[in-house]
Amino acid sequence: MVSAPVSIALVGPGAIGGAVAGALLAGGHHPILCARTGGFERLRVEHGGGVIDEPVQVVTSPEGLDHVDVVFLAVKAHQSEAARGWLDALVGPATTVVILQNGVEHRERIEPMAPGADLVPAVINLPAKRPAPDHVIVGGRSLLTFAAGPGAEAAAALFDGTFMKVKVVDDWATPSWIKLMLNAASGGVSTLTRTDNRMLGDPVAERLVLEVMEEVAAVGRAEGAELPEDLPPRIIEGLRAAASGHVASIVADRLAGVPTEWDARNAVVGRIGRRHGIATPLNDLLTTLIQLGEPGAAGLVEPSAD
Ligand SMILES: NC(=O)c1ccc[n+]([C@@H]2O[C@H](COP(=O)([O-])OP(=O)(O)OC[C@H]3O[C@@H](n4cnc5c(N)ncnc54)[C@H](OP(=O)(O)O)[C@@H]3O)[C@@H](O)[C@H]2O)c1
Repeated sequence: MVSAPVSIALVGPGAIGGAVAGALLAGGHHPILCARTGGFERLRVEHGGGVIDEPVQVVTSPEGLDHVDVVFLAVKAHQSEAARGWLDALVGPATTVVILQNGVEHRERIEPMAPGADLVPAVINLPAKRPAPDHVIVGGRSLLTFAAGPGAEAAAALFDGTFMKVKVVDDWATPSWIKLMLNAASGGVSTLTRTDNRMLGDPVAERLVLEVMEEVAAVGRAEGAELPEDLPPRIIEGLRAAASGHVASIVADRLAGVPTEWDARNAVVGRIGRRHGIATPLNDLLTTLIQLGEPGAAGLVEPSAD
């Protein structure tokens, strides 16, 4: 028996969305790319093992779209609400929505926009950048970790045989909090200091990142993540060894003067910590300082040409 092709939409074909779309194309699938800006008809994705360069269907309005089998949502966390119109059109009773975002609150964020849908939160371990809307470069290994659920295995199977490795795990809390340790601590300090990951070569920065990570780990453990005491120094060691000049996406957004994911990557630590009665003063301070530098913030000094 020949099985019917899976209908797929990818909302937010940016760096991660483009990389995921490239892998889907490599797997023989043809996702509809739901873009805010659009203006491209081919997609070129360069990854360690080769190049994918194929025509793509790009739409910039949900009008006329129908329910699909799988939606990949790859807008930044703070752009989710603005993407609601896509979910209204694409998500039906049998749709699986894979949420490709940083943070740990994927379900809480998307559930109100797709009530009752089969949601699959994903951890993204994949450095990608998008030099042009139709061009994505994947700069290292590509791993997505899906939380187990009704549609997770079928969504993961879409990537079989491609450069994108996908794991489906019962314990999603652990990998998502490990990623949050990195994002909140290293990404938070880098946002404020406008540095790439070589910042960890400075012992003062390393000490601060370690202390912030230890706070995040305490909250993650209260949420059920398995985070051994020696994990923060091991993560830092790994980051330092791999320090390659990688600019975190939140730093890129700060440098570009556009809104950042500070709520999903930083404020979340204090928010969840307070639920467990765990104090997170360093994370709270980082969060406040990042928030105070967001576009439109009072008293923000713009770079001058002088
Ligand atoms: N980049 C990385 O290396 C990396 C690594 C790990 C995790 N992540 C996480 O992955 C997620 C996506 O990040 P990213 O780096 O891929 O961001 P990105 O490059 O800025 O991509 C976001 C895309 O969403 C589009 N978009 C925004 N609002 C939309 C709307 N209403 N409808 C349709 N499309 C919309 C943007 O359109 P425009 O083209 O118009 O801006 C852009 O193409 C974030 O949570 C990030 O933290 C990123």
